[in-house]
This record gives sequence, C-alpha cells and structure tokens, in this order.
Amino acid sequence: MKYNIRVYQAKKSNLSKVDFNNIPFGQTYSDHMFVADYKDGQWQNLQIRPLSHLSFHPGLMALHYGQSFFEGMKASKTNAGVPMLMRPEMHAQRMNHSAERLCMPAIPEALFVQALEKLVALDKNWIPQTPGAALYLRPFMFATDETLGVRPSNTYKFIILTGPVGPYYAKPVKLWVEQKYVRAVAGGTGEAKAAGNYAGSLYPMKLAAERGYDQIIWTDAFEHKYLHEAGTMNLFFVMDGKVITPSTDGEILKGITRDCFLKILKAKGIPHEVRPIHIDELVQSYKNGKLEAAFGAGTAAVVSPVCEITYGDFKMTVPEMKPNSIPALLKAEIEGLRNGTIPDTYGWMHPIETAAVVTAPKKKKVLVLEPA
Ligand SMILES: Cc1ncc(COP(=O)(O)O)c(C=O)c1O
Repeated sequence: MKYNIRVYQAKKSNLSKVDFNNIPFGQTYSDHMFVADYKDGQWQNLQIRPLSHLSFHPGLMALHYGQSFFEGMKASKTNAGVPMLMRPEMHAQRMNHSAERLCMPAIPEALFVQALEKLVALDKNWIPQTPGAALYLRPFMFATDETLGVRPSNTYKFIILTGPVGPYYAKPVKLWVEQKYVRAVAGGTGEAKAAGNYAGSLYPMKLAAERGYDQIIWTDAFEHKYLHEAGTMNLFFVMDGKVITPSTDGEILKGITRDCFLKILKAKGIPHEVRPIHIDELVQSYKNGKLEAAFGAGTAAVVSPVCEITYGDFKMTVPEMKPNSIPALLKAEIEGLRNGTIPDTYGWMHPIETAAVVTAPKKKKVLVLEPA
C-alpha cells in the first residue's frame, strides 16, 4: 500500500551551519521531521514538515504513565552516493513489538518504511560523506491523551527525527558487572525499547561512572550471575576461539546489529553460540587465558571494544581488538555493506530513490501543524 505523505518543505535549510568535521551525537537535527497522529483508531495526518517544537498540555499521558518508546537506526551513503537504509523492516518489526508490549498502536510496516524513505530522500544532503559517519534516524511514539488515570491512551504521535552523526571511534570501554540493580526481568519490558527502561538505568549508571566505569553489564534479576547487555549495546565474548552472546530470553533487547553479527558469523563459518553466559564461565575463561575479546554491538558504534570488566573486586583486563580479529571483521563487514564495497548477499541494504520529493502546494500560506 502506498501512503499519502504530505511534504511541507522548510523555507531555509540549516545545513550550511553544520560543521561536518565535528558533529556530537544527538545534538544536530536535519531540516525536516515526519509526524503522524493516531486518532479514532487509525494513523492520519501523515506529514513531513520543517523541524519545529511541539506544544502540549501538561496532562499529556506520556509524561505521567510513560507510554513512550523509540527506535534507533542509520541512513548512510555508498561510495557512489546512493542513500541506504539497513534492514528497515526489522526496525519496523521491533518498533511494533515495543508498541504491543506498551499497549500502543502498531505502525504499518509499509508506512514506517515509506516515511523513512521520503524523509531521508528530502534530507539526503544531510547524510555525511565521511567514512563511518551517517544520518542517525530516531523514530519514536508517545501517548497524547490529556487525561489523568492509568489506562492506555487513545491518541498517539509517531515522529521521526534525523540528524548527522560523526564517525564513531569507539574508545575501549570499562564495564562494571552490576550485582544490585536490574534493567530487566523476564515478563517485564526489557525486550522493548521503552523510554522507561533507559530512565531506570540512569541511577545505577551514575554510580558506576563514579567508580570509573563507562557502562554496566546488566545481569539477571534473581542471582545477578547471568550476563545480559551493556548500556545501549548487546554483548559478545570470544572465548577459546568461539564467539558467544547471551540468549535474549525476553530480558535483553534484540539488537539488530547483534542479529547481523550472528548471520555474518554463520555465513563465514565462524564458530558461535547463543546461550546464557554465567559470570563464573567468564572468570574461568579469563583465568585460563582463554578470553580473547569482548565487545558491544549496537547501531551507534557497530563494535565497541571492551578493555576491562570488573566483577566485585575482580578486575579482568581484556585483550585489545587486533586488526584481523573477529570483532574487527564484523565491523568491517557492516561498514563495507553500508558503503557498498561489500556485495549485499544478505539482502539487508535498502537503497532510497532520491528523485525530487513532491511537496505540498505552495499557496497554503499558514501551515496547520496540529490536528484541529
Ligand atoms: C538496551 C539496548 N541494547 C542493545 C542495543 C543495540 O541494538 P541495535 O543493534 O539494534 O542498535 C540498543 C540500541 O538500540 C539498546 O538500547
């Protein structure tokens, strides 16, 4: 199905104000955003319009009861200049998984993809050309009813923001194995990208930062023994020649980078396992000199090398990522797919048609930004 997305173009672009050699993550936005309203049981008012503030009633339900979630993905350009999304359908599916868990409406997959295509096509000049840089895409949804009382909202907004992000030279991270606080528990919202999951992680992360750590390794809620994930990335360990990542089991976000890595490992015949990982296994492997690498996997850095893991008083120094190591190979494969130097045998890359985007008629002087 083709959706009718009206496009209102910004009168003036802010592109020339951006220093593409210095783009801190999440602080620069492109000229346009996609906005849709959910009302009377359907998505309507589909628009791409200039980025602007929104005004809202203080009774906005998202603020009180937390019906809010987001996605994170990137658009990049191949070396030949073709804008690309990577696995947008999988992001749509994860988005709808989050929506279902938070009792929010699904976004039709085709609408999600068409909104991204049109928005990225319009702001294609915002996709950085520097190797490793990209246009970060932030689809999100929140409840907009203006009444108090714990119940699902009847109305919602779905918005997509975009903004350029520089190449992410991930400094190896120090991780603290958390034994008191939890991010998620089976049956909870850990597998959704619920905004509240991130709010709940801030205080334990602050404590870990005060001890000198970059991120927490979250563990299971009952024994604090099984390793889950860290910050905004899934975890991989290379032990005794084998790549191991924790099974998600409803408690860990099903990272799309994680899924890509598992498929790449399979395609390349690299031994790997998906299963629960007990902290004692990691400690033993380290003591026996079999811990070869540890790294995080996520959209932002692709691969985040880990240099240290501390469990209570026990500090493990993880070997540096070597140029021909497994994490380096995984990172190179994703970057090669994005810049078009590696053929897309996986069927993940989604080129974007950049023929002129048809904008709404100019004569409409006053743009009505909110539904009447
Ligand atoms: C909690 C959490 N885990 C893992 C990830 C990695 O997921 P992805 O590879 O889809 O970016 C993210 C990032 O979205 C995250 O927020």
